[in-house]
Order: sequence, then structure tokens, then C-alpha cells
Amino acid sequence: MADLMEKIISLCKRRGFIFQSSEIYGGLANTWDYGPYGVELKNNVKRTWWKAVVYQRDDIFGMDASILMHPKVWQASGHIKNFFDLKSDCKDCKKRFKTTDLKDKDKCPECGGQLTEARPFNLMFKTYQGPLEEEASLIYLRPETAQGMFVNFINILDTKHPKLPFGLAQIGKAFRNEITPGNFIFRTREFEQMEIEYFVSPDEASHYYEYWVEERFNWYVNLGIRKENLRKRPHHKDELAHYAVACTDIEYNFPFGWSELEGIANRTDFDLKQHAQLSGKDMRYFDETTKERFYPYIIEPSGGVDRSVLAFLVDAYSEQKVKDELRIVLRLHKDLAPVKVAVLPLLKNRSQIVEMAKRVAEDLKDSFITVYDDTAAIGKLYRRQDEIGTPFCVTVDVQSLEDKQVTVRFRDTMLQERIGMDRLKTYLEERLA
Ligand code: GAP
Repeated sequence: MADLMEKIISLCKRRGFIFQSSEIYGGLANTWDYGPYGVELKNNVKRTWWKAVVYQRDDIFGMDASILMHPKVWQASGHIKNFFDLKSDCKDCKKRFKTTDLKDKDKCPECGGQLTEARPFNLMFKTYQGPLEEEASLIYLRPETAQGMFVNFINILDTKHPKLPFGLAQIGKAFRNEITPGNFIFRTREFEQMEIEYFVSPDEASHYYEYWVEERFNWYVNLGIRKENLRKRPHHKDELAHYAVACTDIEYNFPFGWSELEGIANRTDFDLKQHAQLSGKDMRYFDETTKERFYPYIIEPSGGVDRSVLAFLVDAYSEQKVKDELRIVLRLHKDLAPVKVAVLPLLKNRSQIVEMAKRVAEDLKDSFITVYDDTAAIGKLYRRQDEIGTPFCVTVDVQSLEDKQVTVRFRDTMLQERIGMDRLKTYLEERLA
């Protein structure tokens, strides 16, 4: 199975999805850059999430808060006090380990040397605001997007006047100085989160917690992830974050084992109360019907964009033997595929065919992400599109010049259908809508 990760990493590099960051300098460990197809896939993941949680609902509003925030935010949230991992260093080879990953807490798993005592290591990246690098200007890169939504709670109440339950949604970068990043884009120090903070009355918290676990699980399934590769794992009491009374992870069966894709937590009224206390602002919600003022509870579905991208890639990857050749296909859901249609001329040395194919591609570009490609023989062009997950290839051939029809080839079945050029756009719209 580990082999599958290597195949995915190799495909990502070969086809322009994901590259090692700063590669020309030997690379910066565990940092990755999204290339032309990677950025499309990633944007499509974010777009489908935003559509499902913001546009298709009346009770969730979008937000985009700053990465840099007042340092008191992290005091109130508990990140300065509680957001750390225990680390152990090898006295001989100097490697650093996350203590919870170690079987033997005294012996280095790499060289057998003696390990230091476990020491806490705060995961927040520190930086300085302004020209003076002193304690007073110390700030942090946010380790979660969530706090940007909590600190704007009053602004949302004052501008949108929402009734409970309602939520805020945000997608953005987060940073954690992880001790042991790894597994490609699974655990990195810079990553993107898609988070919802759903405010509910305390007596409805359990109901909405269960509701969001189901909603989020189904989101992955509806985007093509096989159900047998997903599971829900409720946290044991001793692994809950300092702010949560309950949490369920949605885990994916990655090639390196079942691992967290998204967590759904019941954060209670911890965050609003903490921010109220430290800022001195009243952060309670006023219920017009009961005339009561109280702190809502927060249910938080928090997912990683990069982890989703990896899960979608792994789940979509397939190999098939076709006449002694290995056919690699990314069976991505149509909404996630970086390119929707590729237009390919059957003969690139026939100028009329090339011109017609270019015209077809231009015409489709208004409606779908479409590429034109004539840089290889047709078999190779098909394989290229299969590897990036393009659902439809449209081929223009000699016959097209006469009958004004093109061939549409389906990625998953390789079946082909002849379609009149005048019907092509509607035909594809019906299948890609
Ligand atoms: N606001 C709650 C929160 O941040 P979390 O479980 O620490 O909860 C939520 O993170 C999600 O963010 C995870 O389920 C994962 O998908 C993603 N994530 C967390 N740390 C990550 C890392 N180092 N690299 C990539 N993704 C990460």
C-alpha cells in the first residue's frame, strides 16, 4: 500500500499537480507547491465545500478573517497554554520525536541512542509585527481559522441579525510547527482548513453535533469517496482538545493507515466565554422570544483542504491493463476534475482538422474548463487526460470535416459516441451540470 503513495506522488509531479517546494534549492522539507492541475483540483474542493455549506443553505455566512490576530486571541483560546506536543530529543543523533509516537520513551527509534525527558513544545509559529523584534511585538501565525470567526461573533449579530442556529464558514491557511510532519500533503506546517462554526442553543448541541457528523460524512461520499474507505471515530475522553466535550473524526483509509480527514467537535460555550472574559465585551446572544441572554454552544466541523485533496486523489487513482499497456486513470468526481473537456485533433498535420478542433475548444471554453492538445498521437493524448481525470475527450477527425460531428470519449468506460457539433455544448452541459 505504501507503494500507492509513491505512485500518487509521482503522478502529481509528472502531471503538474503538486511539486516539492523550493525544489531548485534542494527543497524545503514537507512543504509543497500546487501546480496547474493541483491548484484547479484544490480550488474545486474548496468551491464544492463553499457551495454546500454557504450557497445551498440559508443559515451559514461566509467569512475571511486575517491570519495575523491580536495575541490575546491565543491567550483566550487556550493555545498559548495548551497547544503543545511533547517532544523528545536523541542525545546522539539529535533527531526530534513526538513523544506520543514513541514505543520506547527512552530509546531513539532511529539510532538506539538515549532520549531526553519529554518536554512541551508549543506548535504555534511566532513572528514579530513591525520593525522591533521584542516581546511587545510578538504575534503568531494562526494555528486554526476558527478564532477569526469567534472574535467576529458580535459583528455578525449586529450586521446579519441571525437567529439560532446559524453558522460561519471560512477557508484559509493555518500554520503549525509540527514536530513530525510527513506523508506528502497529509501533515505539513502550512496547510489550509475549511471550518464551520455553528452556533446553537446549549440544549440542542447534541442534536446538531450528530447532524454535522452525518452531513460532513455524506459530503465526502457524494463527491465520490468510497464509503468503505471512510469511517467515523468518536474521541476517547482523554484525547479531546482542551475546548471540546465531544469530537468525532471522519477518517479516511489512506495508504499509510486510517487517519483523520476532518473533526467535528462540540466546543460548548468555551470560546465565546473566554473571549468575553479577556476582551471585556458582552458576547452573549439575545433570544427575542424568551428575552434571555446566553452564550450559545458551538459545533465545529473542521476539515483540511490538503488532506481532502490527498484523499480524493488516492480514492480516484486506478490502474487497468489495456492491451499490455498500463492505463492510469484518476476517476475524480466531475465537479473536482481540474479539466472537464479536452479537445484533440485526430491528425495534427491536417490543418483543417486542427482549425476545426481549435474552434470547438474555443467555443467550449465559455462553459467549461477546456483544453486543446495536439502535441502527441491520439493514444498518448487520451492517456494524458486519463491521468489528470478529464471526464470527456472530444476528437475531431477527417469525417468531422464532412458531417460536422465529433467523437466524445468517456474517461471511465472509454466508450465513444458521435455527436453533432451543434449539439455538443448542450450534450456536455447535461453531463457536467
Ligand atoms: N479548529 C479545530 C481544529 O483546528 P484540528 O483537528 O486540529 O481542529 C482540523 O484540525 C483539521 O485540519 C484536521 O482534521 C486536518 O484535516 C487539518 N489539519 C490539522 N493539522 C494539519 C496539518 N499539520 N497538516 C495538514 N492538515 C492539518
